[in-house]
Amino acid sequence: MGYDYYKEFSLFYDEFRGRNLQLLFEIPLQFFGFACNKEAGPFLDLGCGTGDLAIYFAEKGFEVTGVDLSLGMLEAARAKVDQKKLKNIRLLQQDIVELDLEPGFAYIHARETFMHFNAEQLEKVFKKCWRALKPEGIFLFEIMTPFGLKKFCNGVSNRTSNNCKYTINGIFNDIDNSAILNYEFLFTDGRQSIFSLKCSGHDLLQICPLLAGTGFKKICAFDLDNSLTFENGVLKVGLPSIVSDNTSSMMVCVKKELQA
Ligand SMILES: C[S@@+](CC[C@H](N)C(=O)[O-])C[C@H]1O[C@@H](n2cnc3c(N)ncnc32)[C@H](O)[C@@H]1O
Repeated sequence: MGYDYYKEFSLFYDEFRGRNLQLLFEIPLQFFGFACNKEAGPFLDLGCGTGDLAIYFAEKGFEVTGVDLSLGMLEAARAKVDQKKLKNIRLLQQDIVELDLEPGFAYIHARETFMHFNAEQLEKVFKKCWRALKPEGIFLFEIMTPFGLKKFCNGVSNRTSNNCKYTINGIFNDIDNSAILNYEFLFTDGRQSIFSLKCSGHDLLQICPLLAGTGFKKICAFDLDNSLTFENGVLKVGLPSIVSDNTSSMMVCVKKELQA
């Protein structure tokens, strides 16, 4: 691979990442009536990053594979896996677009990963996932909409972590719903890192036919903005919807619909 820009993120990534791991997988599954159990088979996390979701499922007894392109992110994940002495998790460096794994996964998950792919790459990834799943396997992934990416690009954002101050300046392109995100990191030890990365927003109405064309069934979208609220520790679930101000959704689909 080229420059491992995610290595820079890995130095403080966990400070900013959302902590609600259930929201990333179990709640959307339950909402649409899919089971989540380790007896169904192994779990694959695509773009596993620093490993928290992969570890969460390994600790529940699943056989887990985490795939990521960034050695920096994988090193951070490996340190946690070793510290927890987990034996049922393997971490692999692979490009998801060229994913090369044995088939037989019961679950494939991806969160904040597919924004790195344009529609053509995404279609290729969907086909790879379809092949890697077992017949009743479930594919669940987060997708950022063009509206969400445009909103993210709206203005310069400054953030401070324990060891880094950083700025993100995004430029959205309405023609193909992509964006160039320009990052400037200034670490407390004086080191500076400047890089750009290209992201794509994906319209749910374009994603659904791509999934259907790949062969996926029962394609559902769970609106992450409007569907969930926690009040006094009680989870309230609203309706999944495709609304104009939706910034990101969890898509859930199955390789082959189960017979009732
Ligand atoms: C924003 S992070 C999300 C990490 C993790 N899924 C999470 O929710 O915390 C995106 C991850 O996707 C990985 N990634 C980006 N492009 C990739 C590719 N072509 N193949 C494999 N991993 C990739 C990055 O290295 C990074 O770890």
